[in-house]
Amino acid sequence: MRPAPSLPPVPDLFRMDGMRVLLTGAGGAIGSVLAEAFAQLGATVALHDVSHDRVKPVQAAIEEMGGTAHTFAADISIAQECARLIDSAASTMGGLDVLVNGAGINRRKPILDVSVDDFDAITAVNMRAVFLLSQAAHPHLKASAHGAIVNLSSLSARYSFNTISVYAATKAAVSGMTRSFAREWIADGIRVNCIEPSVVQTEFTKPLWGEEHRSRWFEDTTPIGRLAHPQELVGAVVFLATPASSYITGQSIVIEGGILSGGDWDSYAETST
Ligand SMILES: NC(=O)c1ccc[n+]([C@@H]2O[C@H](COP(=O)([O-])OP(=O)(O)OC[C@H]3O[C@@H](n4cnc5c(N)ncnc54)[C@H](O)[C@@H]3O)[C@@H](O)[C@H]2O)c1
Repeated sequence: MRPAPSLPPVPDLFRMDGMRVLLTGAGGAIGSVLAEAFAQLGATVALHDVSHDRVKPVQAAIEEMGGTAHTFAADISIAQECARLIDSAASTMGGLDVLVNGAGINRRKPILDVSVDDFDAITAVNMRAVFLLSQAAHPHLKASAHGAIVNLSSLSARYSFNTISVYAATKAAVSGMTRSFAREWIADGIRVNCIEPSVVQTEFTKPLWGEEHRSRWFEDTTPIGRLAHPQELVGAVVFLATPASSYITGQSIVIEGGILSGGDWDSYAETST
């Protein structure tokens, strides 16, 4: 039987001191919030995005609070860029303990309007890059005492909407890859998990919540009665990235304000015949 890992004392279970974390899409609405949280918990953070400019403000915020962050630019829709990014981040930080696959894109269109270019663009970032980055990170994560991958999947992996067919397919693939990677790599001490958030109130999703009828639909359908804020993803991601979740791998934490908990048949009472 494999030996159990030595865990930190309870108050430090969620600490990230000494951890070297690479976060893709760190300039985005969710990525920037996660990056600052990791730094506040003591991690050294590799901030990746399409350009240095996109992550410079995040780096400045982290340095202002006394943390350490490095910036990396790479277009991860290009296959070779994925391995290059992992190599540069690991060599700058002297290794890698956690990879958070946060970069993602969407092009919302009805199925009949989706072009081959749309399909390839979305799958390259949301799906292929997650695979290639994880693959390239393997030796570094294996060398770590607490190697972990946390993927940002989506509720759309299991609950879809109009106009997101390709995006939903890529997120279902990410949740599937999470399980496949977890199976193969637990032998190397690497845990792989994901989160599946519902709509988080960001620019990325403004076309959804920005329209009155959709906003009302979300309020009525989500038992919590509102959309999530980026800060509300931090707890789950930190949990999955730290030894606090040392016996958890291959799992998806669904962060959806209760949408999947069931329906409200009594709301039909007044309209029933
Ligand atoms: N916002 C939501 O409601 C929501 C819900 C569920 C899941 N997610 C997922 O969370 C992640 C972050 O979402 P967000 O709302 O912060 O989006 P965002 O657009 O604010 O951030 C995504 C980041 O990824 C970067 N990126 C995109 N393509 C890239 C490429 N080819 N190379 C390098 N970087 C690239 C972008 O520059 C951007 O900074 C995404 O994977 C998204 O699918 C978001």
